[in-house]
Amino acid sequence: MNATSYARVLFAGPDLGEGAFAELFRRQLAALRGGPALADVVDTSAGYDALWREVQASARPLLVIDLEPQASAPHLDWLRSELGRLEAPDGLFVASLLGQFEADPAGAACALVERPALHLACLDVPALPGSHAWSCIPPHARRLLLCNGPRCTRRGALPLWKKLRETLKAAGKLECEGGVHITRTQCQFPCDEGPTASLYPEGEWYRIRDEEEVLRWVQARIVEERQVPEMLMKG
Ligand code: FES
Repeated sequence: MNATSYARVLFAGPDLGEGAFAELFRRQLAALRGGPALADVVDTSAGYDALWREVQASARPLLVIDLEPQASAPHLDWLRSELGRLEAPDGLFVASLLGQFEADPAGAACALVERPALHLACLDVPALPGSHAWSCIPPHARRLLLCNGPRCTRRGALPLWKKLRETLKAAGKLECEGGVHITRTQCQFPCDEGPTASLYPEGEWYRIRDEEEVLRWVQARIVEERQVPEMLMKG
């Protein structure tokens, strides 16, 4: 597809309706593509129905520029497969910034319009297999939620994540039968007590501050199956 042969280009993503990001994006877009391009901006903050409607109402060929900041290859395939269900899917194309637009989102989006080699058709998107290794509820005994919110991250929670995984794996307790599944979370709220790690189903809240404490906690709480009172949060 030639970049100039699209009947319409839509720019879709969250926070494009109002607020600082929307204001900046719209101002830049109008400067780059002219004021009428503002009618091609679709805010997906409340879901994608507005995008599907706009696509249905648009002539083909149509290009959708994806501005989802959390975009990844699976998100892009989901978007392509959903668009592929609409009318005249052979005239639909998608290109994504995969969240890489930093300070100049409109500039990056407009540059992507001019790079047809990065535009993907919405036909023949590989389907998820109906049955695969991830179809069963896993036999983990516990779930550990490690906070990677701003205050716990400031206290070193990111390297703790790696150390926890390594230590649990070395103990034969990482994401296996009877083992622990670790999930990184946003703020869990007892920030001043952090880095915060909450353990379920026990519902215990721990403060794990450094690698030495990771080793001690895994050995005591997971291998020896006993509480670690000196690391429990006081509440
Ligand atoms: S940032 Fe970790 S509990 Fe708030």
